[in-house]
Amino acid sequence: MSSHDLKRQAAAAALEHVRDGMKLGLGTGSTAKHFVELLGERVRGGLKVIAVPTSEATRADAQANGIALTTLDEVDRLDLTVDGADEINAALDLVKGGGGALLREKIVAAASDRMIVIADESKLVANLGRFPLPIEVIPFGLAATRRAVEEACAECGVFGSISLRKGSGGHAFVTDGGHWILDAHLGRIPDAPGLADSLNAIPGVVENGLFIGLASMAVLAGPDGIRIIE
Ligand code: 5RP
Repeated sequence: MSSHDLKRQAAAAALEHVRDGMKLGLGTGSTAKHFVELLGERVRGGLKVIAVPTSEATRADAQANGIALTTLDEVDRLDLTVDGADEINAALDLVKGGGGALLREKIVAAASDRMIVIADESKLVANLGRFPLPIEVIPFGLAATRRAVEEACAECGVFGSISLRKGSGGHAFVTDGGHWILDAHLGRIPDAPGLADSLNAIPGVVENGLFIGLASMAVLAGPDGIRIIE
């Protein structure tokens, strides 16, 4: 079965947790896109939900699928966010931001009563860190911020190269918030909560891609079916 099919199966399984009248957070990435498409089919069948997208790309997808949108300024809390991830461990800590949407994704997840992570089972890892950790930074003072990131990683016992993410034309990739992304190639992150706190204490860092204690369930699709971790 292809990765495309597994992602769609995980998205379909998460859709079973959506109820009429819910306020939803919509994630970003190829797996979340399946969820938006499947949710759109249900909406066209009469399901009533309103949703907050976690990126401009997801906003466009949701609109194209007829899903009513709202903002976190118009609703107090969301019932459920469904999003993908780059890495998931058994404690449901995540690395996110491969698609560059980590800031809005974390704001939306933190405003949600529940977050379901959808992925093909290759995203389940024993230790976080093989996937480069995205760190969203302010362009001003980039070199100083990069040095501070290296120091914070070293203090947490992790070492590796820190690269500026490039987008089209070889220019810095720009997030929906107008920021840049440093990708930290660390290999293994033994203390993810500690590193997350240290990174966010750096003035030029806007947010990091470690999602600690935010996910309540992972729906993982593999060749043998759906596996739930909660
Ligand atoms: C975007 C993300 C995505 O959820 C993550 O990159 C997974 O993407 P995909 O479903 O395409 O594998 O964090 O910022």
